This record gives sequence, structure tokens and C-alpha cells, in this order.
Amino acid sequence: MVRTVLILLGAPGAGKGTQATRLAESLRLPHVSTGDLFRTNLSQGTELGQKARTFMDAGNLVSDSLVIDMLFDRVGQPDCAGGYLLDGFPRTVAQAEALQQRFDGGEDRVVIDIQVPDELIVERIIGRQSCPKCSAIFHTRFNPPTSEGICDHCQTALTQRADDTAEVVGTRLAAYHEQTAPVAEYYRQQGGVCAVNGNQHPDKVFEACQVCVTEAAA
Ligand code: AP5
Ligand code: MG
Ligand code: ZN
Repeated sequence: MVRTVLILLGAPGAGKGTQATRLAESLRLPHVSTGDLFRTNLSQGTELGQKARTFMDAGNLVSDSLVIDMLFDRVGQPDCAGGYLLDGFPRTVAQAEALQQRFDGGEDRVVIDIQVPDELIVERIIGRQSCPKCSAIFHTRFNPPTSEGICDHCQTALTQRADDTAEVVGTRLAAYHEQTAPVAEYYRQQGGVCAVNGNQHPDKVFEACQVCVTEAAA
């Protein structure tokens, strides 16, 4: 059986989480977000969450070994046996190589790079509101919830992520350009990346991502 492994690349605030939710639903693949996994660990008070916190709050990447162990543990679970969608992993070339080594040849890998200019990122990040319970993503201006401050899906009070500040976003963008941009280059050399313009309505971004998936399967 061919397993689809869909990898979403993109800067902080590019719209990975927004698109991953929709793609996971339409492709019936589990949505695996390393950022969400760390935040869940943090809210549960685990040792892993504590270790990751300092890096995340400062806008730096968590060390490869911690991320890779956590990710492999997650994608080793039964619901990922038929494929999965990765949001926020791999973020370094070392992570991409580790993932590649784990593959056994039965994977159909699709890599989508959601591209958004840096100057648009700050407003997206500062205005984001996230649901601490179901991880749904909103934006005060671009995607407001039906009732202010409340999650449309589970009625939980929305919160702002600790790393969604004007100060931290600069560090996150720098980490992206230094450590994650080379991952797109790695995949370009390994067979291809489908570039999608992330600076358009989320519905249009979604359509473009679907085209990438269809073309990869053809
Ligand atoms: P993570 O949670 O992955 O954060 P990130 O990569 O910085 O990405 P974001 O979640 O901020 O943005 P997004 O692309 O998901 O955008 P979203 O859809 O929410 O990682 C957090 C931290 O964890 C890292 O800094 C690191 O410390 C650690 N970490 C995680 N993975 C790691 C790894 N593999 N290795 C090492 N460390 C790791 O959209 C953003 C906003 O814009 C929302 O408000 C949304 O409503 C809005 N929006 C979305 N699309 C559009 C659109 N088309 N038009 C207008 N607005 C839009
Ligand atoms: Mg995200
Ligand atoms: Zn919710």
C-alpha cells in the first residue's frame, strides 16, 4: 500500500496550520504538527514540554534530537500507518535526512512550500488567536471567530501563543531563513517541491495545495 506523506513547508505564519487542517480532512490523513505536539506537552506539564519551552518562547528551534524522537513516536502510531500530513517538520536538513532514512520506499512523498513575503508575516502572527483545546486557528482581522474571542468549533476561550509577539517573530523568521529555507532546497534536489503562493485568500491557497497533491499522484 502506498502511504502519502504530505510535508508542508513555510515561514512562521505562512498558513501551514490553516491549510493542514483542511488538507488533513479532505485527504483523510492525520495532521501531525510538531508545534502543537510541543504545546500539548507543555500544557500537560511533561518533561519534554518543559525542555521545549525555553526554545519556543525565545523563537528558536528545539534541538533536532528532541523533535525527531517526538515526531517518530507520533508517526509510529497506528493512525499514521496509511500516511500522514506533516506541519512544521522537517525544519532542518538533519530532520529531513532523518525522516528520509525512516522511509521504506512505500511512501508517496509530496512537499508543498507555502510562500509569503516576510513583511506580511508580522501582522498575521500578532493578530492570530488559537484555541488551546482543539488547536483551531483564527485571526482578529483575516479570519475572525463568529463570536469574539470564542472558538467556533468547541466554544473555548481563544488565547494568544506565548511566541506570537512582535519581539519573538523576528527571531522565528531568522531561524526560518537560516535553518528551514535549506530544507526546501534539499527537497528540490530530491525530486521536487510544489511552490504555492500563500499571499491570497485561504480558499485559493487550499485549491493550489490540492493541485500539488493531484499532480504528484499523476
Ligand atoms: P509552530 O507551531 O510550527 O510555529 P511556526 O512554524 O512558527 O508556524 P505558525 O504556527 O506560527 O504559522 P502557520 O504557518 O501554522 O500559520 P497559521 O496557519 O497559524 O512551531 C512553534 C515553535 O515550536 C517553533 O518556533 C520551535 O521552537 C518549535 N518547533 C516546532 N517544530 C519544530 C521542529 N520541527 N524543529 C525544531 N523546533 C520546532 O496562520 C497564521 C495566521 O495567519 C493565523 O491567524 C491565520 O488565521 C492567518 N492566515 C492563514 N492563512 C492566511 C491567508 N491566506 N491570508 C490571511 N491570513 C491568513
Ligand atoms: Mg502552525
Ligand atoms: Zn476549539
